[in-house]
Amino acid sequence: MNVFLPDERATEALATRLAAAMPPSTAGLTLLLRGDLGAGKSTFARALIRSLGHAGAVPSPTYTLVEPYDLPGGMVYHVDLYRVSSEDELRYLGWTELDEGFRIVEWPDRAPGITARADLCVEFEYEEPGRRVTVSALSPDGRRIVARFERTRATEPVD
Ligand SMILES: Nc1ncnc2c1ncn2[C@@H]1O[C@H](COP(=O)(O)OP(=O)(O)OP(=O)(O)O)[C@@H](O)[C@H]1O
Ligand SMILES: [Mg+2]
Repeated sequence: MNVFLPDERATEALATRLAAAMPPSTAGLTLLLRGDLGAGKSTFARALIRSLGHAGAVPSPTYTLVEPYDLPGGMVYHVDLYRVSSEDELRYLGWTELDEGFRIVEWPDRAPGITARADLCVEFEYEEPGRRVTVSALSPDGRRIVARFERTRATEPVD
């Protein structure tokens, strides 16, 4: 699925729709957020985490690598691998402990081995003044989520 998002609000609305398509338990799922610097990955993650039930701030995990959230659907881990230079570093930081949660991963290609098994990908490309976004399923769970997501699109267009 490919859509043009004219502004930040449209990015947030798309994330809210994806949240509505997630199953009641998000345990064990992985969502990859791809795109260049400033493309909108954190904007999307922030709106998604809020739509999944978080009321407070959503700080960037750029320096902490992982920000955890205890939400109704289970633990959610917002991960930013921009500063990661090796997969060993990630294992040392306890990456496998995140397995039981829902991992939302910015810059997944910094650790291709570790992020190879994922369910969903949202990829952002600059199309000034907005963004072009592609949502893809990478697993059977991901395909079920994208199918529900497509159905909400038919009734509640955001673009
Ligand atoms: N659809 C859109 N059209 C135009 N601007 C947008 C859109 N979505 C988000 N933005 C803006 O683009 C910027 C994106 O910043 P954001 O931090 O989300 O990017 P990022 O991909 O996480 O960057 P980084 O790689 O540095 O982590 C913000 O200023 C946001 O307001
Ligand atoms: Mg970011």
